[in-house]
Amino acid sequence: LTTAVAATALMTGATGAMAACEGDEIVIKFSHVTNSDKHPKGIAASLLMERVNAEMNGKACMEVFPNSTLYNDDQVLEAMLQGDVQLAAPSLSKFEQFTKQFRIFDLPFMFRNIEAVDAFQNSETGQAMKESMVRRGLLGLEFWHNGMKQMSANKPLISPSDAAGLKFRVQPSDVIKAQMEAIGVSPQPMAFSEVYGALQTGVVDGQENTWSNIYGQKFFEVQDGITETNHGIIDYMVVTSVDWWESLPEDVSSQLRTILNEVTVERNAAVGQVDADARQAVLDAGATIRELTPEQRQEWVDAMKPVWEQFKDDVGQENIDAAQAINA
Ligand code: LMR
Repeated sequence: LTTAVAATALMTGATGAMAACEGDEIVIKFSHVTNSDKHPKGIAASLLMERVNAEMNGKACMEVFPNSTLYNDDQVLEAMLQGDVQLAAPSLSKFEQFTKQFRIFDLPFMFRNIEAVDAFQNSETGQAMKESMVRRGLLGLEFWHNGMKQMSANKPLISPSDAAGLKFRVQPSDVIKAQMEAIGVSPQPMAFSEVYGALQTGVVDGQENTWSNIYGQKFFEVQDGITETNHGIIDYMVVTSVDWWESLPEDVSSQLRTILNEVTVERNAAVGQVDADARQAVLDAGATIRELTPEQRQEWVDAMKPVWEQFKDDVGQENIDAAQAINA
């Protein structure tokens, strides 16, 4: 390990993992961008690390680098292809540069809730998506859930017209850009680690994210309030590099896959609670949460849903139909 990486690990509390790496164990670095506790991804990554280090001791060891301390999402896949990191779990919005199929997950109001996302991912189409980037060198191992996205800004948002003329930070996704443009918002793609500062200094006026991200990054501190739109989803794919995965001894990859699958099942089943706890924590911190009446929410649906038309060839009408059938 380089000194810089070791220093980063010390600062981020990954020292337990560092201590676990010894001898000729296979080192598995997992880089992600969220906080490591009270967050669906952070908790799952930490649990994965604990189990790998306990159960694969002598064969492999894992180090988790949370909070963008090793890479941002716009760097991590490249770093993975270079062999500098072995696991990551970027949001599905970050994969559209590799395959446009993933755009279905960003379409506003496509999925009613995370259970619907789960059902879609477990369909044949969803499972095939894990292998859709193999020719680009990336292999999806599991889907990890987060939750529904909410809108926040430096002014109250009730109707989509309240957001018109504002600048919102977005993930680098053409679908999300189009969704924001549909309500007259100017989308500003930006790395997750930069959002708090950008909201604080007024570089952007607002953002969309899940309760655990709004809580974990403290966005509520620098926003007027959060409007409970539940207009989209943030979900993840745990990815690795095809080259690295294929270089692993069979017993190592199969044990890692089993542990990862068990962690996935356990933590995906618990995301509803993590999400609800984060929402409550935002409230307890004194932030304003604005709930919408069904009529008010319908205004957001009417304003944003027309972007489906623009992307239906990328995602496939049959997939849109399948997602809608799951919602019903
Ligand atoms: C974001 O960039 O807003 C999210 O994808 C961050 C994350 O990993 O939840």
